[in-house]
Amino acid sequence: MTALLETRGVWQRFGGLVANSDVSISVGRGEIVGLIGPNGAGKSTLFNLIAGVLPPTQGSIWFDGKDVTNLPAAERCQRGVGRTFQVVKSFETMTVIDNVIVGALVRNTVMREARRKAHEVLEFTGLAARADVLASDLVPAEKRRLEVARALATEPKLLLLDEVLTGLTPTEAQTGVALVRKVRDTGITVLMVEHVMEIVMPLVDRAIVLDLGKVLVEGKPSDVVRDPKVISAYLGDRHAVSA
Ligand SMILES: Nc1ncnc2c1ncn2[C@@H]1O[C@H](COP(=O)(O)OP(=O)(O)OP(=O)(O)O)[C@@H](O)[C@H]1O
Ligand SMILES: [Mg+2]
Repeated sequence: MTALLETRGVWQRFGGLVANSDVSISVGRGEIVGLIGPNGAGKSTLFNLIAGVLPPTQGSIWFDGKDVTNLPAAERCQRGVGRTFQVVKSFETMTVIDNVIVGALVRNTVMREARRKAHEVLEFTGLAARADVLASDLVPAEKRRLEVARALATEPKLLLLDEVLTGLTPTEAQTGVALVRKVRDTGITVLMVEHVMEIVMPLVDRAIVLDLGKVLVEGKPSDVVRDPKVISAYLGDRHAVSA
C-alpha cells in the first residue's frame, strides 16, 4: 500500500535562506509520526508546503497516491489534509461552536448538517461545555483544543498538528496526548510537530528529525533520542558526537 503522504525532494527557499533542503519523508496510513527538531529547523515551513499554503521552490508533494504539488490549500483540505497553526488562528470574536462550524462547512454545505458535525466534534474533543463562549474567552489549553476541533471538523485523512501540546501544564498535555490517540483510533493519520520529548516520544510510532532544513535522522523514537546526531543538534554543538 502506498504512503498517505510523501514529500519528494522538497526545497523551500526564502531569498537566500534555505528553510527546507531536499526533504523526502513519508507517512503511512494510520501512523502517528513526530516531526521534531530545534527552533528554525523548518518544521512549520514543511507543514505549510504539505497543506498548500506555499508552493515548494522545488520537489513534489504526494497525498493519497496523487501529486498535489500544484493544488491550492482549499483543494488539499477537500482531499483530506487538515492542519492546525503554531500561532493559534481561531476567530476570537466568534463562539467556539461557530469556529468549528467553519471547519465543518468544508464538507457539509447545509448549515444544519455543519452544526451537527461541529457539535459531534466538540463532544469528541471535550469542548462541548464551552460551545457557546467566545473563542477569546478560552484558556490557552482550550484554544489549542479548539484548533484541533476545527481541523477535525473538516474530516481529514491526515491531521497536521503544529505544537498543540506546547505551553500546557503536564496534566493538560496528557489530556492532549489522549486526544491524539483517540483521533488516530478513528483512522486518522497524524503528523505532529512537538518540542517536549517526554510527551511526544511515547506517543509517536516514528520520529523524523529536521535540522537546518534537512532530514537528520528518522526511526523509532527510542533510537532517535539516543542518536548522537540528534543530541548534538539539540545541544547546539555539531562536533560533540562522541558516545
Ligand atoms: N515566510 C517566511 N519568509 C522568510 N523566512 C521564513 C518564512 N517562514 C519561515 N522562515 C524562516 O525559515 C526557517 C525555518 O522556519 P520554520 O518556522 O519552518 O521553523 P520551525 O522548525 O517551525 O521552528 P520553530 O520550532 O521555532 O517553530 C527560519 O529561519 C525562519 O525564519
Ligand atoms: Mg514552527
